[in-house]
Amino acid sequence: MMNREDYVKQIPDYQYMRETVKKDENRLHFHLMPPTGWMNDPNGLCEFQGINHIYFQYTPFLAGWGTKLWGHYTTTDWIHFRECEPFLFPDCDLDRDGVYSGSAFVDGDKIHYFYTGNVKLQDKDYDYILEGREQNTIHLVSEDGVHAGEKQLVMTNADYPADMSKHVRDPKIFAKNGRYYMVQGARDCESKGCVLLFESEDLMTWKYFDRIVPEEKFGYMWECPDLFEVDGQEILIACPQGVPKSGHDYQNVYQCGYFPIEMDFENKKYKLGEFHELDKGFDIYATQTFLDENGRRILIGWMGIPDADYDNDATVEYDWIHALTMPRVLTYQDGKLIQKPLEELKSLRKNKMVTSITSFGEWTTIDCCFELSVKRDDENAAMILGLRDDVTLTYKDHILKLELGKSGHGRKQRTVQLNSLKNMTVYSDTSAIEIFINDGEEVMTTRVYSEKLNQKVRFLQSETDGEIEVYNLGSFVMELSLIHI
Ligand code: FRU
Repeated sequence: MMNREDYVKQIPDYQYMRETVKKDENRLHFHLMPPTGWMNDPNGLCEFQGINHIYFQYTPFLAGWGTKLWGHYTTTDWIHFRECEPFLFPDCDLDRDGVYSGSAFVDGDKIHYFYTGNVKLQDKDYDYILEGREQNTIHLVSEDGVHAGEKQLVMTNADYPADMSKHVRDPKIFAKNGRYYMVQGARDCESKGCVLLFESEDLMTWKYFDRIVPEEKFGYMWECPDLFEVDGQEILIACPQGVPKSGHDYQNVYQCGYFPIEMDFENKKYKLGEFHELDKGFDIYATQTFLDENGRRILIGWMGIPDADYDNDATVEYDWIHALTMPRVLTYQDGKLIQKPLEELKSLRKNKMVTSITSFGEWTTIDCCFELSVKRDDENAAMILGLRDDVTLTYKDHILKLELGKSGHGRKQRTVQLNSLKNMTVYSDTSAIEIFINDGEEVMTTRVYSEKLNQKVRFLQSETDGEIEVYNLGSFVMELSLIHI
C-alpha cells in the first residue's frame, strides 16, 4: 500500500533519481516517459474542458515491476505537457497491490474513472490464476481530472461470471442507445481469453451483460479491451496473451490488435471479424483510445511489452524504463484501421528538406530525432534504407523487414507482409522509432539503444526513385506542477 502521504515522504530520497534520469542521452524528445521509475499502460485518456489527460501505470521510485500508481500528464496542444501529482494511489484494502489499468468516461461536468484494484492474497499458497486474487472494479468521480473523489467498489470477483479465473481487469466504458457499457479483459477457468461486457443505467450499478469470445481459442487471457465506433465501423481492441507465432504474424510474446465487430446489443449478438495486429514492431501493448473534443478517435499505446526476451537495460541504468507511443488518430478505410500521428506533432518540425531518393546521399541526424517520408515511384521495387548504423528497413518481394543489430538489445527482426510499398514515414526519436507504412495501414514501433546519437540515414539500395521529405524534430516542453517540489 502507498498513500499520498507515504509518497510525499519518499520524495526527498528520490530526488537523486530525477538527477540520474537527466544524464541519459536516451531520454526521449517527443514521447512521454516516466519522470523516473517505471511506466506501462496509458490509462484514463480523455479530453475534459480543453485539457487532455494522460494517466499511466507508474512506479516512480523503481525502474522495475512494483505496486502501481496512476501517474499523470496533461496537455492542451500535445507539445507542451504538465507533469502533475500522481492521480491514484494504492491506498486502501481494495487496491493495496496496485491501482491497475482503467479508463475515464466524461459525462457532462464530471469525469468518471473505473479501474481494477489489484489484491494478491498471501494467506495460502495460491496459483494466482484460479485462486488468490481479488480484482475489484472501482469507480470514482473527479470534477477537474486532478482531484480524485472517493473510491467506490462496484464489482468484485463474485460479480463476474462463475466460470472466470481470477484474471478479470482493465474496465473501459462507452455509451450506446442511452445505456452505459463496460468491457473488461478476462481469462476463463479453461484459460480462454475473452472480453466481458457489463451494463449500467447510472454508471454506479453494473450487471453482467454478455461476453465476446472467438469461435476458436485465441490466447489464454485478453487484457486492456476497448470497444468503440470509428467511421461507422465498430472495433474491438484487445491484447491477447498466448497466441502462437504464425508466419509474419504474432511475432511478439503478447499481441495487441483489433477485430472489426458488429454488435447487436438488443439481441445480445455479435459478429467478430478477423484479428489484425495494430503494430508489427517490437514494443507495443495495452493501447487505449479516446474521443477528443474535436471528435478524433486518438490511440496511445504502451511502447513496451511485458515478458519480452529483449531488454531496456540501457535506460534502467539511469533509473527509468518504458514510454508511450506518439498519439495516433484512427480512421477506418476499406476494411482497415488506419493510424496517423496527430497533426499537432507537425509543429515539432524544423529544417525541411525535399529531395529524391537518388540525390539523398547520406543525411546526418541531430540526436537521431527526425521525420522522414518516402514516396516511391515504383511501389514494388526492392529497397534497403539504413536508419542507423545497425538499423535497417528492407523491402523485397512484398515483405518489409525491420532489422536491428546490437542497438536492439535483443530485438532482431520483425516483418510485415504488404501488397506493395507505396510510401512510409519514419519518426525517429533518441531511443524509439515508429514507422507508418502506406499512409498508416501498418505501423512498426521499436525501442533502440544506439551507442552514439550522431547517426546517418542512407539508402543502401533502391531500385526506384521517389520523393523524400525530411525534417529534424524538436522536443516536447515539460512543465512541473507538483505540490511537493
Ligand atoms: C497490461 C496490464 C494490465 C494491468 C496492468 C498492470 O500491461 O497487465 O492488464 O491492469 O498492466 O500494471
